[in-house]
Amino acid sequence: MSKPAFWLRCEKKEFERRSALTPTTSKKLIDAGFEIFVERDEQRIFDDSEYEAVGCKLVDNNSWPSAPTSVPIIGLKELPESTDPLPHTHIQFAHCYKRQAGWSKVLSRFHHGGGTLYDIEFLNDTSGRRVAAFGFHAGFAGAAAGALALAAQRKGQPLGLLTPYENETDMINSVRELLGGSGKGVKALVIGALGRCGRGAVDLFRKIGLDEDDILKWDMAETAKGGPFSEILDVDIFVNCIYLSSKIPPFINERTIAAVGKQRRLSVVVDVSCDTTNPFNPIPIYNINTTFDNPTVPVQVGEGNPPLSVISIDHLPTLLPREASEQFSGDLLPSLLDFPSRQTAPTWANAEKLFKEKLAEAVAEEKL
Ligand SMILES: NC(=O)c1ccc[n+]([C@@H]2O[C@H](COP(=O)([O-])OP(=O)(O)OC[C@H]3O[C@@H](n4cnc5c(N)ncnc54)[C@H](O)[C@@H]3O)[C@@H](O)[C@H]2O)c1
Repeated sequence: MSKPAFWLRCEKKEFERRSALTPTTSKKLIDAGFEIFVERDEQRIFDDSEYEAVGCKLVDNNSWPSAPTSVPIIGLKELPESTDPLPHTHIQFAHCYKRQAGWSKVLSRFHHGGGTLYDIEFLNDTSGRRVAAFGFHAGFAGAAAGALALAAQRKGQPLGLLTPYENETDMINSVRELLGGSGKGVKALVIGALGRCGRGAVDLFRKIGLDEDDILKWDMAETAKGGPFSEILDVDIFVNCIYLSSKIPPFINERTIAAVGKQRRLSVVVDVSCDTTNPFNPIPIYNINTTFDNPTVPVQVGEGNPPLSVISIDHLPTLLPREASEQFSGDLLPSLLDFPSRQTAPTWANAEKLFKEKLAEAVAEEKL
């Protein structure tokens, strides 16, 4: 019998330096008897040589379409748009199960090719919790971006281009330096502090030197009284990390901001949750997603009042590709080791069942 295998494809999305498999997790799979093919990729944060050193077989960039169809292809982000049939098994985020733009066209490719999609967003353990998610580093990077925006604002400047950091230490040192050596004295409030993103945001604030008392950590209990919350206006940086699942009163709005006028301490809002277009967005003070090249959007605060800006970048973990990939891939590893029993292992069997349901919906939508 041939060895189980995975084929790590290159990522084609601009700025995407993260990877679903790292040299560390590849080695663990190889040690467990897997064969790992890795497409050469200049864009990936890990060098090709790091994979080669642990025993991966390097293959040409973007050569997965000619891989044997028995080898599952693993990647992170969506494949470039195409109508080519997909005969392989793909493990990735496909963003096509919630009727996102083009969803049925993406699934049609699997219908035409006979392939299978295991969407990582829907790989859950038996308690229904996702086996792997990027939340921690989204919060961590979001808090860092917030601190950078605060530093820029103190110099009377907007925050310029954000580029991925080589590693966490580089990010922390850079943020500290721009804050004049340490974040001590800065006050931050994190809502959703018990979740993945929230824990990441709190960790960053600790690592850049905020006093523990200056990191306010709120979750369900603290917001139960219902917003808007004047406490938000009394910190320098507010980071929203909640998982929005129902209609809730706003945490902050333009009226409460205007009411405090010049007394407001709040300078930067980081909306990690990014429910920007959701009608129940609890931060209805902005309406666009910001980007790495233009990370902040100003809030209308009224003539003569101190500035306030929002960061609403929806792919924050890309700022810390190495650590984000290591954590994510490490969390995915137990499921990958289980992949050979995918017919019976609940994580995979449930994901395949969901794929088949969504495929049927797409077939109906496209009248195939
Ligand atoms: N911007 C990005 O790059 C990025 C990346 C990853 C995740 N996200 C988003 O971040 C959000 C959080 O993700 P997560 O993985 O941390 O979720 P999670 O489920 O791990 O944590 C969410 C936390 O929010 C709390 N919460 C929910 N409603 C609340 C309320 N009304 N008041 C106070 N606390 C509340 C929950 O109790 C929980 O502790 C999601 O919307 C996710 O899509 C954004």
